Amino acid sequence: MYRSHTCGELRPAHAGQEVTLAGWVHRRRDHGDLIFIDLRDRYGITQVVFSSAYAEAHTVAETVRSEYVVQVRGEVRIRPPEAVNPDLATGEIEVVAHAAQVLNPARTTPIYIAKEGGEDEAVRLKYRYLDLRRERMQRNLILRHRVVKFIRDFLDAEGFVEIETPILIKSTPEGARDYLVPSRLHPGKFYALPQSPQQLKQLLMVAGYDKYFQIARCFRDEDQRADRQPEFTQLDMEMSFVDQEDVLDLIERLFTALCRAITPHKHLLTPFRRLTYTEAMERYGSDKPDLRYDLELVNLSDLLAETPFQVFRAALANGGQVKGIRAPGCATFSRKQIDELAEVARAGGARGLAWAVLPADGGEIRSSFARNLAPGEFAAIAERMAAQPGDLLLLVADQPAVVAASLDKLRRKLAELLDLADPNTLCFAWVVDFPLVEWNADEQRWDAVHHPFTAPKDEDLHLLTTDPGKVRAKAYDLILNGYEAGGGSIRIHRRDVQQQIFSLLGISEDQAQAQFGHMLEAFEYGAPPHGGIAPGIDRLVMILAGEPTIREVMAFPKTQQAVDLMTNAPSPVDERQLKELHIRIVNGSAADNA
Ligand code: AMO
Repeated sequence: MYRSHTCGELRPAHAGQEVTLAGWVHRRRDHGDLIFIDLRDRYGITQVVFSSAYAEAHTVAETVRSEYVVQVRGEVRIRPPEAVNPDLATGEIEVVAHAAQVLNPARTTPIYIAKEGGEDEAVRLKYRYLDLRRERMQRNLILRHRVVKFIRDFLDAEGFVEIETPILIKSTPEGARDYLVPSRLHPGKFYALPQSPQQLKQLLMVAGYDKYFQIARCFRDEDQRADRQPEFTQLDMEMSFVDQEDVLDLIERLFTALCRAITPHKHLLTPFRRLTYTEAMERYGSDKPDLRYDLELVNLSDLLAETPFQVFRAALANGGQVKGIRAPGCATFSRKQIDELAEVARAGGARGLAWAVLPADGGEIRSSFARNLAPGEFAAIAERMAAQPGDLLLLVADQPAVVAASLDKLRRKLAELLDLADPNTLCFAWVVDFPLVEWNADEQRWDAVHHPFTAPKDEDLHLLTTDPGKVRAKAYDLILNGYEAGGGSIRIHRRDVQQQIFSLLGISEDQAQAQFGHMLEAFEYGAPPHGGIAPGIDRLVMILAGEPTIREVMAFPKTQQAVDLMTNAPSPVDERQLKELHIRIVNGSAADNA
C-alpha cells in the first residue's frame, strides 16, 4: 500500500492515527532539528514534520529536494493554534514522520512548481508535464472535466445519444484549411482530419438517431490566436424535427444549468439576450460583442452628409460611414493615451482617429477635427452621442467594415481601460439572422458565411437568385463575454435546395457530386428537417476559468505557430515512411529532408 490517505484528506478528526502519505516535495523548510515538508499531490498539501527524535526519517528529509517523490509514515497531530494555516484544507493538522523513503529523486525543475508566473510560456509548454503539476493547471483541467461531465449527464437526460464519428474522413469545408493524411494503401490519395463532424452528424439525422451529440475533436489548419488552436474540442450536436427556437432553448437551458452548477459564484445573466447580426454590427461593430458593458457605437453619417471636413466627406461620398464611441469620463486622457487609442483604431484598419475632449469643468473643447466642421455640426454630434462634460469622443470615418472593426477594437480597449468587463459576470447572448453568403472580392464569388449546409430563411428564398447578399440564414451564434462560444444552424434537408446553394457558391454540379454526392444522395432517402450547433468547449472553459487563452485549459496545447514544444511536432519523418506513403518532399528546407 503506497498510501492510506491523499495529501488533501486529513483533518483534526484523524488526530492520533498512523497514516501513510505519498507525493511530491512542494516546499521544504530546514530548521536543523526540525524539518518541515509540504507534501503535495493532486488533492492538496499536507505539512509533514521531521524531528531528530526519528533519526532515520530526519536523515531522509535532509536529503530530499523540491519535487522528489517521497513516501512518509507518521502520526496525525493537531497543530498548535498559532501554527494553523487557514489557507490549507489540511491546515489544522500536521503529520509527524516516523519513517520516510524517497521513491524517486528529481533534478532541479526548469520551472518552479510552487510559485507561478514569471517564466516564458515556451518553457511551460516544453515542460508541460511539470507545468501541469501546478495548482492553476490542475484547477483548469478539473474544471474542464466537470464541464464535460455535466454536459454528458444533461444531454443524456434529454435523450441525446453520444456517437463517435471517424477522424479520417473526406474533407468537409468549414472555411479553414484541412489537415491531410496520406493514404499508404491508395497512392496519391488523402484523408482529411475533420474540421468538424458536420456532414456526419447530418447523416446521423438521416439515419434516424434524432438527438446526437459528441465531444468532438476538430482540426483546422488556420492562423492561430489566443482563442484558437489547430485542434480543439466542440460539443457537437444535431437534432431532428426542430426549428431554431428548439435549438436555442435547449442550449440556453444547458448552459444556464451548467453555469449555476459549476460556477455558482459567477453572476450569470439570464435570459440570454438576442441580437440580429445587423443590429450587432450597427451597435457594436462586431458579431460577437461583449455585452457586459454598453459603450455603443453611434452613427453620425446623416449629420455630416454636407460637412466641409474633407476626411468625413470623402468617406461618406465613397459609400462609407462616420461613427463614434463616447468614452465616459475619459476627458482626462493624455495626448499619449489618445495616440495609443488611435493605434488601436489603426490596428482595425482605420486610417486615423478623430477625437474630441470635453473638459469636466465645461472648459473649452479640444479636438482633432471640430475646427474643420461647419457651425452647428459639432453640437449635433455631441447631442447625438449624448456627450457630457468629462467625456472623450472618438470617431472613425471609413468603409463600414473598417469602421466596425476599428470601433470594435476601441470599444474593447476602452472597456479594459475603464475596467468595465467584470470577470465574474457571464453574459451569454444569441446573434441571429446572419447573412447566408458574403461576397468574396478576391475570388469573385459568393462564400457561405456559416457553411454550405445552412438553410436560408423561408421568407428570403425569393432573393436567392436576385439578391443573394440579402438572404438571411437560419444560423445563430452563441456569444459569451465577447467571444464566439458556438455556432450552428438549421440545415438544408432537400436535394434541390442544397444543389441551388452549391451553384450559388460557384460549385458546379460535377464538383458537388464529387465532393458531396453522399449528402445529396442521402437527402433523397427521407432526410428529416434537422439542425444543430457546436459550442467550443475550450473557449467555454477558458471563460469559466477566467483565463486569457485556451492554451491554459488544454493539457498539451500547441504554440501560436502550431508547434508542440514538448515533443517537437511537427517533425521530419524518415525516408522509408515517406516512401511507403508515396510522398517526396520537393520544396522543403534541408532540415525537412533530413
Ligand atoms: P464553427 O466553425 O462556428 O461551426 O465552430 C463552432 C465553435 O467551435 C469553436 N472553434 C474553435 N475553438 C478553438 N480553436 C479553433 N480553431 C476553433 N474554431 C472554432 C468556436 C466556434 O464557435 N459544424 C459547425 C457547427 C454547426 O453548424 O453545428 C461548426 O464547426 O467556439
